[in-house]
Amino acid sequence: MFLSSLLTGSLLAALAHGAALTAEPAGDMMPRTDSRGPVLSIVAPNMTSKWLEKSDYVQIIEMFVENTDDREYVTAAHGLQISVKSSSLDTLVPGTLKRLAPKQSAIVQVGVKNKPGVKPGTACSADIVPEYRARHGGPAGKSAKVSGSCGIGDFEESVQSVQSHRSPDWFNDAKYGIFIHWGVYSAPAYGNVGDKENYAEWYWKWMNSKGDKTATYEYHLETYGKDFNYDDFFSNFTDKKFDPKAWVDLFSDAGAQYFVPTTKHHDGFALFNFSESISRRSSVHYGPKRDFIGDLFAAARKHQPHLRLGTYFSMPEWYNPAYKPYAKDSFLGGPPTNPYTGAELEYTGYVDVNDFVRDIQLPQMNTLAYEYSTDILWCDISGSPNNMTIMAAPWLNWARDHGRQVAFNSRCGLTGDFDTPEYTTNNETVEHKWESSRGMDPHSYGYNYQTPDDKYLTGENITRTLVDIVSKNGNFLLDIGPAHDGSIPEIMQKGLRDAGRWIKGHGEAIFNTRYWKVTPGLDPLRYTTTSDAFYIHHLGAPPASLSISEPVPYLPGDKVTVVGGSQHGKKVPVSWDGIGKLTLKLGDEIVKGDEYVWTFKIEYKSGDCTAPVTRNE
Ligand SMILES: *[C@@H]1O[C@H](CO)[C@@H](O)[C@H](O)[C@H]1NC(C)=O
Ligand SMILES: *[C@@H]1O[C@H](CO)[C@@H](O)[C@H](O)[C@H]1NC(C)=O
Ligand SMILES: *[C@@H]1O[C@H](CO)[C@@H](O)[C@H](O)[C@H]1NC(C)=O
Ligand SMILES: *[C@@H]1O[C@H](CO)[C@@H](O)[C@H](O)[C@H]1NC(C)=O
Ligand SMILES: *[C@@H]1O[C@H](CO)[C@@H](O)[C@H](O)[C@H]1NC(C)=O
Ligand SMILES: *[C@@H]1O[C@H](CO)[C@@H](O)[C@H](O)[C@H]1NC(C)=O
Repeated sequence: MFLSSLLTGSLLAALAHGAALTAEPAGDMMPRTDSRGPVLSIVAPNMTSKWLEKSDYVQIIEMFVENTDDREYVTAAHGLQISVKSSSLDTLVPGTLKRLAPKQSAIVQVGVKNKPGVKPGTACSADIVPEYRARHGGPAGKSAKVSGSCGIGDFEESVQSVQSHRSPDWFNDAKYGIFIHWGVYSAPAYGNVGDKENYAEWYWKWMNSKGDKTATYEYHLETYGKDFNYDDFFSNFTDKKFDPKAWVDLFSDAGAQYFVPTTKHHDGFALFNFSESISRRSSVHYGPKRDFIGDLFAAARKHQPHLRLGTYFSMPEWYNPAYKPYAKDSFLGGPPTNPYTGAELEYTGYVDVNDFVRDIQLPQMNTLAYEYSTDILWCDISGSPNNMTIMAAPWLNWARDHGRQVAFNSRCGLTGDFDTPEYTTNNETVEHKWESSRGMDPHSYGYNYQTPDDKYLTGENITRTLVDIVSKNGNFLLDIGPAHDGSIPEIMQKGLRDAGRWIKGHGEAIFNTRYWKVTPGLDPLRYTTTSDAFYIHHLGAPPASLSISEPVPYLPGDKVTVVGGSQHGKKVPVSWDGIGKLTLKLGDEIVKGDEYVWTFKIEYKSGDCTAPVTRNE
């Protein structure tokens, strides 16, 4: 079902028949001048762990506000103000809405601060009070109760406490990141092709899985011979063409807001620097003898400081001898063996420790958290043994003390801030924050030299996927697989830069937006919203006259313009026959003026309820 249950049955029926909304003239849909404003309902309010960025820890209370009226709009003229009344809290930044169509709902935030003497983290409750300030003034609906933790207090080392953490707004706003799978597996860079293809970064595992569809076992034998072991690839993983500035400049050209390199994949070979008393299995000790993550982060901080820095980290290691007691699924522990001779092999760089989780995994995660100051801890393989509660609580508290809001994904052993669909996306809006990842390759994150260039995602593919995901509350984490020497294959650079041109031209309709709670949009339409505007995206070239039957919150007087492309800012003539009956008269110039996805902006101008209703602008 595409239309949310917020829409009434009769509206659904009317839309299904493409008919006018009701038998009454559309003008009746306008706000009535005698009205006090529609009755609002506050739904699912939460005291969050988030604070307003750049504020002095002004805590965010987040809620859905629903317009329960089936005819009347909320407009700026109502002067809606949502504040809290509580013995523990003061309202610093009241919530507001400039536009809310009948029977629709939107996300609203209220910024609060503890009253003097109320310790951050105190259990408390508050009444959320919606009021109209303009015209006749007065209540805008019933107040609602919210309870939780007042102020930005300490997380405790418990599942419940750490799971109350929410993805920070900068992450929700950032929308587009670059994932990087680069490591020893980039030396063989093999994952087969077509139906036989599978993740090239799993080379070592496939090599040990005779009969696997990638036929890596056979490929390795033919290409390198039976005596060439996986760890022998270390010397072919080099920095000959690794240019950290060029990498971060590319991510910036791509329009990305963050990036997430593999700091250690399942083969256990790390690309960062940690105490050699726990492991020496890293690029610091072997191959290029270099701290790649440190160099990459330093380049980003220097040359592209707007980029947020994430760290992919594999919780288990396939063949680490210390992992043996935890053996499960694909992760059996080591030492590894040669699949052709059965000989037991050295796990290069292994240091004898007591316990994998306590002595390797946890200290490595702490290194990424405190020494590399990761913004996003992107764990892999949820369900594997971990110490996440005792890792996360002090880390979140430390980050807060430094004024930083950090995030962690759903694969660290806890629910996490955001879910992580892999090589798939959600067909519907999902309210819990999510981030979909995939490679530019048809089915590999790591570089697969066998993939022909014409199988990689193009700028158009990337753009359409991004718009689709963002319209449903997701972020898009698009993966590249650099080659063994640190060069980024041309075909990947081209796709990223092509998409980047579109993204930069249409950024206002992508970044810092929220999904439209009514519907993710029936193909080929998608929608995004901000507090000042509503954006309509058409995947692919639109017709010269574009009719939209979904109940977009347009009102006569609003300014409708083109976003991006050669016609950026151009006014679009519209006709409007009531909600669910909006037609954009684009004409040839606008249709020819863009590529990939065409975007139109409805800027809320109509704030005056007494404005005469013109049915055709
Ligand atoms: C508040 O939290 C609940 C439970 O996690 C969630 O279902 C709801 O969507 C949240 N409300 C908002 C406005 O995000
Ligand atoms: C090492 O890389 C070179 C390309 O620079 C390649 O020709 C060679 O086959 C690679 N050797 C191994 C063992 O991967
Ligand atoms: C790794 O860290 C150690 C200890 O801080 C330092 O001496 C060494 O130079 C670092 N190595 C690299 C490659 O950054
Ligand atoms: C930390 O990991 C160790 C080893 O797996 C485990 O015994 C211990 O219970 C874990 N501690 C917590 C708090 O999760
Ligand atoms: C989305 O739809 C596709 C095609 O119908 C389906 O294969 C996929 O499983 C769906 N994804 C989810 C998350 O439901
Ligand atoms: C990429 O775009 C091409 C051309 O429009 C299309 O045929 C292909 O299915 C798209 N690939 C993906 C993965 O969306």
